[in-house]
Amino acid sequence: MAIMKDVQVKKLIESEKKRQRAVINLIASENYVSKDVLEALGSELTNKYAEGYSALRYYGGNEIVDKVENLAKERALALFKLKLAEWAVNVQPLSGSPANLAVYVALVPQGGKIMGMSLAHGGHLTHGHKVSATGKFWVQVPYGVAKETEVLNYDELKEIAVREKPAIIVAGFTAYPRIIDWVKFRDIANASNALLMVDMSHIAGLVAGGVYPSPFSYADIVTTTVHKTLRGPRAALIFSKRDAREIDKKIDKAVFPGLQGGPHANQIAAVAVALKEASAPAFKKYAQQVVKNAKALSDEFTRLGWRVVSGGTDSHLLLVDVWMNGRGIGGKEASDRLEKAGIIVNKNMIPFDERSPIDPSGIRLGTAAETTRGKKEKDFVALLHGRSILYYGSNEKREIYRHRRHGRVGEGDAGEIACKAFAAGGAGGRTRRLSAVRTAVGVLRGTIPSRRVWYHKGSGSEARLHILRAGSV
Ligand SMILES: Cc1ncc(COP(=O)(O)O)c(C=O)c1O
Repeated sequence: MAIMKDVQVKKLIESEKKRQRAVINLIASENYVSKDVLEALGSELTNKYAEGYSALRYYGGNEIVDKVENLAKERALALFKLKLAEWAVNVQPLSGSPANLAVYVALVPQGGKIMGMSLAHGGHLTHGHKVSATGKFWVQVPYGVAKETEVLNYDELKEIAVREKPAIIVAGFTAYPRIIDWVKFRDIANASNALLMVDMSHIAGLVAGGVYPSPFSYADIVTTTVHKTLRGPRAALIFSKRDAREIDKKIDKAVFPGLQGGPHANQIAAVAVALKEASAPAFKKYAQQVVKNAKALSDEFTRLGWRVVSGGTDSHLLLVDVWMNGRGIGGKEASDRLEKAGIIVNKNMIPFDERSPIDPSGIRLGTAAETTRGKKEKDFVALLHGRSILYYGSNEKREIYRHRRHGRVGEGDAGEIACKAFAAGGAGGRTRRLSAVRTAVGVLRGTIPSRRVWYHKGSGSEARLHILRAGSV
């Protein structure tokens, strides 16, 4: 970066770096890659055209790119403990969506059926949703979670599959926090004579780290992005069973020349780097910590009175119902407020949501990115105290009492007004700010019962205003 001459772009990159450093990133699909991954991405490999596959290129000068691609393939198979005789892998897909598209192009006749989880229940657009190309050229047979449990009901899935006879069943989701029973999915695919595709984009790092069941003994095809829990560059892989059906050959043809031109050799090199990193013992520990952190965060949300969808998590992500049938706040408001407090999440529909995708009932949170930065359970729990703006429910009075006892001041209403007092007192330093807030809170206490404000007398820049919306309290 020091030598970048384009000042405008350099500044933008520097600003984004700063932004990333400044926030707490709870976006479930993001992570922070290593310097080695960045170096590979920024390498001269980007200059090379290499249409085709190793030793079968349409351009000369590819002896090194062939080595890069072969290395990425070897590492991909090794990481997931796959034998070359049984599994093939294509490392050229530019990202997760084109990878999934390539599978359907290869294996589902146009107009054929893709059985995928609906977007509203945690599936991905590319599982056949109508706004995606996958829902325009093929027909989605949607499935979802059960209303009472918010987890998959495999008997119901089997009924749908047997009735609809999809060409392919997609398992593996975008917003499903629980363990997926691959054995049951295999049974459903067998019963309906469908191919089983697992999209493990979200959980690939957890599978690699041995903390989530591997789908490879059950699936015909496994797709994954590399940039979520697997902590690599933006890219995707398609694994396919090698057998008489020649799925692997069909997929290779669908990727190139079917959908893509020249592969991105720099990206493939970065994938190889990430795959090696993920095979190190430290990555196992990382994956274990990711899940422990998600469980700790989920437990703390529950303890504070929020509703965690399906009652918890077995993975890196959780869905929190912040609306709680009108007693809480909308997903958009929650996400906006958290962002103001420096915590980045995404608003998300919850199963059977009656609100809209632009202001749904939930937020989705993941622990992969912040675990990369070394956060442990206690740090995630602290997020809901030290700087969180989301407090709710029966524990609230206890919390207020506790905060008072610990020298935190103010319980009151009209959060925005107290926020302004905090900001106005800013120039006068910490003592002035405290007293400005104290005054505002004191004056406003009890005036608007649904909103409350505390000033958290934390240390230095950690000091935050806490805004509560207590709903029915
Ligand atoms: C399960 C799943 N599959 C596929 C994708 C698509 O990946 P990309 O955004 O790289 O196209 C995502 C992205 O969020 C995903 O969650």
